[in-house]
Amino acid sequence: MKVVSLVGARPQIIKEAVVQEELQKHEIEEVLVHSGQHYDYDMSDVFFKVLKIGEPDYNLGVGSGTHGEITGRTMIAFEQVVMKEKPDAILVYGDTDTTVAGALVGAKLKIPVAHVEAGIRQEPHNMPEEINRKVTDHVSDLLFAPSKLAMENLAREGVTKGVYFVGDVMYDLFLKMKPHFDYSVIDELSLQEGNYVVVTIHRDFNTDDPACLKWILDGLRELSKQLRVVFPMHPRTKKRIQQFGFGHVLEGLEAIQPLDYLKLMGLVMHSAFVITDSGGLQKETYFCGKRALVVMPDTGWRELVDTGWNVLVDGHGSSLVLVWRLFDIGNFLIEH
Ligand code: UD1
Repeated sequence: MKVVSLVGARPQIIKEAVVQEELQKHEIEEVLVHSGQHYDYDMSDVFFKVLKIGEPDYNLGVGSGTHGEITGRTMIAFEQVVMKEKPDAILVYGDTDTTVAGALVGAKLKIPVAHVEAGIRQEPHNMPEEINRKVTDHVSDLLFAPSKLAMENLAREGVTKGVYFVGDVMYDLFLKMKPHFDYSVIDELSLQEGNYVVVTIHRDFNTDDPACLKWILDGLRELSKQLRVVFPMHPRTKKRIQQFGFGHVLEGLEAIQPLDYLKLMGLVMHSAFVITDSGGLQKETYFCGKRALVVMPDTGWRELVDTGWNVLVDGHGSSLVLVWRLFDIGNFLIEH
């Protein structure tokens, strides 16, 4: 059996680390394709290196652009690879523009599409990732759901055929890599266990609206009076901060380059708590036994909020009351 796997962005590369090993165990031939949606060393290559993932057989080099450009360029180039390789199945991961492009190519060529992390749903329904998830799930033949809630979400949309509850590959990765977590950033920044918070912010709804981004940065600056704030910054966020002239708000924060998986997990393990809008990190924080303030109007990992472990904060307010709330919930998390 031959499978073509398509990755392109950080969270997919991470998942591939686990799935690749399983495919090898079962002697399934895999052709690995990287769309090139993420291309900086810190956003792509480093994950292959630290997680020991085999080099991609193809890199489509699609780069950045509008959603239409990324999706369209990936579809055009990926279709060529699939027609040449003639796989028995196509494997796509998560919810990025790369994911939906791969799923559409497979569906149109009538090659079975398998979706790892199927059935995740969240508001706002028009966020790019939510559109990608829905389209991908509805054209996939095999849907690997990570949670019972994901199964229910699919059933609610009438998707029941080919759906399997397989658990979470991110948790598999966490367990596998825990002995190798890298704690070096703690020393490099002279941090101490529990005296710092880890922040990642990259969603378009948080970064592209100046008022919202300012609200988040002001909240972090307020927080930095109590705790060190370590902020590995996604290139989109860095660009927006420069574009909106918010650089001065970063004073007092530890704004650093994006971290690889092992370094980020090492940092989270000893943190006080995490502030994030990353789908993956809000879960990984829980795996580390830490709590997260999730800066999103909603989350696909609703179980973690319903149980009271993670706390949702919608970053679309610009009032000081909300800044205070971010700060106050932070205190709540430290105390509990
Ligand atoms: C994408 C995924 C998101 C995932 C995230 C992980 C979509 C719609 N979203 O969002 O689900 O959580 O990846 O990081 O696909 N850039 C660089 N260098 C890079 C990559 C990006 O400078 O290597 C900059 C570019 O300015 C680019 C911007 O970041 O335009 C956004 O990148 P993009 O891949 O479009 O979306 P992400 O925000 O990374």
